[in-house]
Amino acid sequence: MLKNELAKVHKLHRKATYNRLSPNSTPMILIKTAADLNQYLTGKQLTGKTIGLVPTMGALHKGHLGLIEYSNKKTNITVASIFVNPTQFNDPNDYARYPVTLENDLFLLEKAGCDIVFLPSVTEMYPNGLNSSHTYDLGYLENILEGKYRPGHFQGVCRVVDTLLRIVQPNQLFLGQKDYQQCMVIKKLIQLLDLPTRLEIIPTIREESGLAMSSRNMRLSDQDKISAAAIYQSMVFIREHLTQGLAKNWIIEATALLTHAGFEKIDYVSIADADNLTEIVTWDGKTSVVVLVAAFIGGVRLIDNLRIA
Ligand code: PAF
Repeated sequence: MLKNELAKVHKLHRKATYNRLSPNSTPMILIKTAADLNQYLTGKQLTGKTIGLVPTMGALHKGHLGLIEYSNKKTNITVASIFVNPTQFNDPNDYARYPVTLENDLFLLEKAGCDIVFLPSVTEMYPNGLNSSHTYDLGYLENILEGKYRPGHFQGVCRVVDTLLRIVQPNQLFLGQKDYQQCMVIKKLIQLLDLPTRLEIIPTIREESGLAMSSRNMRLSDQDKISAAAIYQSMVFIREHLTQGLAKNWIIEATALLTHAGFEKIDYVSIADADNLTEIVTWDGKTSVVVLVAAFIGGVRLIDNLRIA
């Protein structure tokens, strides 16, 4: 039913469509401007339909496709955005080297059953330029862990997600648990903006080795990919050993494990309260705990986390 409706609406957007693999299914629609997307989503053909948003920076992998799958199950229309957001990169080299695999991304999204892909330009997302004096009050979340090592990162994430939420007005927003702190920041953003959007956090998808799926993995050599599984092993090590009392020793051991595996720089191994990310120095044996890691291998910075108790 919905697919038929989309097919009808699609006629209005003929130029902006991407051919579905199967000739019998509705084409996925590609939209490049906020005005077109907004007009499309608020058009009367889609009235009453629920919308799921999966924001991405492209270089898609199974983790992203899992989010599309969830959105397809939980909402009527899935919108995926692909936008490498310049304001969230504190390191210009990281931005310049961020993998771009657009053709493949569209192929994968299409295959996963995504309905609409929003593919804006930088000027579309930032019509008034990249500088802004507005800041989001994220409290301490902004300056710990990722915030400490990537100053300004979460302000940039909030700017782009704020804009996407205003354009798409989704019922549900789907994010991966791999970016644990980002999920907490965006939960806070939704509260700050007082939006009705429900945030759904989807479990991390891993390679068989335990390595979390990430766009940055594309930049790893085969050997580094094997070694990088030590992040997962270090978190499992903490899960297996953490007992009530001082947490520090397990952090030291996990850090040694990463160094031994070939990680050249470790930003943090942290044991934190899973609900608010405050550091756990002495575990009471009851508080729910998450282990978070950020470390470099082969010049690539990887992050991961594991809920352990
Ligand atoms: O997680 C990401 O890929 C990005 O931070 C996001 C949420 C798409 C915002 O640019």
